[in-house]
Amino acid sequence: MKRLLFVCLGNICRSPIAEAVARTEFARVDLDIAVASAGTGNWHVGHGADARAIASAAAQGYDLSAHRARQVEVADFNRFDTLLAMDRANLRELSSRCPAQATARLELLLPFSGLATPAEVPDPYRGDMDDFEHVVLLLRQAVQGLIARSANAT
Ligand code: 4NP
Repeated sequence: MKRLLFVCLGNICRSPIAEAVARTEFARVDLDIAVASAGTGNWHVGHGADARAIASAAAQGYDLSAHRARQVEVADFNRFDTLLAMDRANLRELSSRCPAQATARLELLLPFSGLATPAEVPDPYRGDMDDFEHVVLLLRQAVQGLIARSANAT
């Protein structure tokens, strides 16, 4: 796993948090994995992350201030080794857009956390700060799982 793309719907809440958590935690353990994020939807292309996502991530030490939303594009299915979807709807959307010759794997992110439930990162967009804080914690668990998996693979 050398290049990971985190994918959600809008690319302003969950996947930018996942990207920032992964970038920070991978650097902390000297893990050489490039990370990025994108959304299946195009509503927020060019926008910064949601203010609640920025605040809840910042409270845990993760910086989303430079994030700009972008949509998943066809080249992503070859540019990245694995596309990690936040929920099953995102995963279905990726599967339906994935070119036949694509090399990337498509997977749900949260099972890497090792948590029995949930399997999906809940969409906090219409929720409150508690929902965002919960998402940050889930994503930290998932990233720790990715780190553990990488350590076992070497
Ligand atoms: P995200 O959250 O997929 O975690 O970035 C959402 C952001 C925007 C919308 C839905 C979910 N939206 O409907 O605009």
